Amino acid sequence: MPGIAIIGAQWGDEGKGKITHLLSGLADVVVRYGGGPNAGHTVMHDGHTYKFHQIPSGILYPHVQAIMGNGMVVDPDELWQEMETLRQAGVDFSRLMVSGNIHLIFPYHRLLDRSIEAFSGSQAIGTTGRGIGPAYTDKTARRGLRVQDLLLPEAELAERLDRALRFANTLLEHLLNAPPVSLDEMMERARAWRRWLEPFIGDAFTAVHDALAAGKTVLFEGAQGTLLDLDHGTYPFVTSSHPTTGGLLAGAGVGPHVLSRIIGVVKAFQTRVGSGPMPTEVHGPLAERLRGTGAHPWDEFGTTTGRPRRVGWLDGVALRYSVRLNGITELAITKLDVLSGLETISVAVAYELDGVEVETFPAQIASLERCRPVYEHLPGWDEDIADVRRFEDLPRAAQDYLRFIEELAGVPVSIVSVGPNTDQTILCSDNILA
Ligand code: IMP
Repeated sequence: MPGIAIIGAQWGDEGKGKITHLLSGLADVVVRYGGGPNAGHTVMHDGHTYKFHQIPSGILYPHVQAIMGNGMVVDPDELWQEMETLRQAGVDFSRLMVSGNIHLIFPYHRLLDRSIEAFSGSQAIGTTGRGIGPAYTDKTARRGLRVQDLLLPEAELAERLDRALRFANTLLEHLLNAPPVSLDEMMERARAWRRWLEPFIGDAFTAVHDALAAGKTVLFEGAQGTLLDLDHGTYPFVTSSHPTTGGLLAGAGVGPHVLSRIIGVVKAFQTRVGSGPMPTEVHGPLAERLRGTGAHPWDEFGTTTGRPRRVGWLDGVALRYSVRLNGITELAITKLDVLSGLETISVAVAYELDGVEVETFPAQIASLERCRPVYEHLPGWDEDIADVRRFEDLPRAAQDYLRFIEELAGVPVSIVSVGPNTDQTILCSDNILA
């Protein structure tokens, strides 16, 4: 029962969309297991650019069943928009299943998200404003509404919604100075959602397990990144879910034995959106060089928010942490081509913390904030590598850089991406897509 996990090993935006798309060709089922419309996966397929937020990107392949797993939170209004855009591009949704256990993002969750950020002033997290935190808060507080609740008799649905709204409105009116939200309006919205969402609602748990039992290949498509994990990330500057292997198991409802490969997706340098410590961050011309101008969909500007991303050198300390935390078995390195033309490439191999060199990721954010990177400097390369398809055809310095990352992480690099298109990929072992 081959299950393949795709995990973002940094702060999100590692290029999981492309790697998922590449591997979806060999998958029968693709499952999203966490996050919601805060995610943004860009996929180039047959000359078109597709942007995914909530739908598993595997849907682009006609043979793939796409499942939205229980660990997600879903905004049906945004889902509708996303489906409309993809429908116009010819995507067929008969193979989409939405778990009934997914928690719903209502408009008041978005309002709460934005109002709480405004209220927090200088301590704001820099969220995507999509209602993610408040929806997961309602989930853990056990007052959230799930997709399956849309199918409840009217009176029961109204009672549950009223209970959730009383909390939301108390916060909005009395703490956040924002207007309350009306139950009638939310009921209206819920009825509309039920009308079109019902055919997609299914038992995702059984669908995933039946596929695994039949020997089918199931790809688990991660969203966000390890360092944004609610428990293990740079709390409080994190998302409200678990974009780690642990989150996959809970968010898709599978045991660890189903995973035969855990692929950590790592950008060849570091990026981050929103607030929080980032020891290897750089500024000035180098930052502009790494970020790009925003003219291309693959430049370092948020897919969901359009915000310029913070950029820096690869953080090897964080990478080792990520490998351990997720049980990563191999790495997919993305955007290696962006480093072409740099004279030297730096990689943080340790941190200096209060005068002492440390090689492990500090458990406390206050310590991380004081960490200064200890860099190893490697020679760069001048050649354009966008057309290279074999590891041995890469410039020697690029090969050395990849080998250096393997050494640092303690796991092999199996996939290297040298451009946004699916074919701009180097497979480092012959049987990787077998
Ligand atoms: P939230 O998930 O909208 O609550 O945002 C919390 C933090 O996670 C913010 O710093 C966001 O920028 C970051 N974040 C959430 N989703 C993504 C993503 O898909 N890529 C990169 N950063 C993300």
